[in-house]
Amino acid sequence: MSGYVEIFEVGPRDGLQNEERRIGAAEKIALVDCLSRAGFRRIECASFVSARWVPQMADSDKVLAGIARAPGVSYAALTPNMKGFEAAMAAGADEVAIFGAASESFSRANINASIAESLDRFRPVAEAATARGVKLRGYISCVVECPYEGAVAPEAVARVAAELRDMGCYEISLGDTIGRGVPEAVDAMLVAVLEEIEPARLAGHYHDTGKRALENIEVSLARGLRVFDAAVGGLGGCPYAPGAEGNVATEAVAARLAELGYETGLDMGVLEEAAAMARALRG
Ligand code: HMG
Ligand code: MG
Repeated sequence: MSGYVEIFEVGPRDGLQNEERRIGAAEKIALVDCLSRAGFRRIECASFVSARWVPQMADSDKVLAGIARAPGVSYAALTPNMKGFEAAMAAGADEVAIFGAASESFSRANINASIAESLDRFRPVAEAATARGVKLRGYISCVVECPYEGAVAPEAVARVAAELRDMGCYEISLGDTIGRGVPEAVDAMLVAVLEEIEPARLAGHYHDTGKRALENIEVSLARGLRVFDAAVGGLGGCPYAPGAEGNVATEAVAARLAELGYETGLDMGVLEEAAAMARALRG
């Protein structure tokens, strides 16, 4: 195998959002700056959600204001609604993401809306992003398993993916939120989604609770995906997904991709430095 595979670094957002210890903006900024030096093209480092729901992300504007922006790097933010979108624009986010789910119970628990209601909230965000020329990414949570409902039908994922595509998402990231997905289930989900969307517009976002995330990445590579989300140091978990552990660790993904013959463009030495920094932030 050969070719370029991009790791979309989500550690400063997905990795830190669930940490109990309140981490100061300066520490977050130091981590993002180290990640910029490691060679990532996209780093998710902010989330403009309710501070009551996710207190750890309440200083996202300070983080975006304090980082040393590396040329060509896109600094990304989550924006669940127009309030979040406007805050992200004011703070200087380069791109934004709307985040839905393939399971009704998780959608309610995470963003207090049914799937249909969430899509209605996303539409104005998508229109505003398009009007301003801001890149819009989409996430789907619970693409294989829901913490409340169990197995999720691949067709349910494909339906939400098609909606996000129609809203203008340039890429849709498929989240195994609780990290319980096995390669067979991930593969079956991908088959359904690929009937709607070409692999170049998909990303794999696999948490690693069941320790199968690297295998899930391999089945996704075989289906043509070339972007994977990961969090440096394996940080993370979603506050509204009980039992979810960290994201797959960026350094483990980078090492596996190198073994498989793919290029990531990352400086492994700086990445190790960032991983040590991330682990030290953990409460
Ligand atoms: P709601 O309560 O339905 O919203 O929450 P609301 O419109 O009724 O507003 C309630 C209060 O929130 C109001 O404040 C609003 O101003 C405020 P009050 O008047 O009571 O003082 N509010 C906001 N504040 C800041 N920023 C905003 C915003 N919107 C409303 N954007 C809402 C709806 C979506 C806001 C809420 O449910 C929420 O913030 N949820 C957070 C969910 C979250 O961040 N989850 C983790 C990220 S998703 C994830 O990790 C999964 C992913 O990694 C993929 C995977 O692994 O599967 C992406
Ligand atoms: Mg996640």
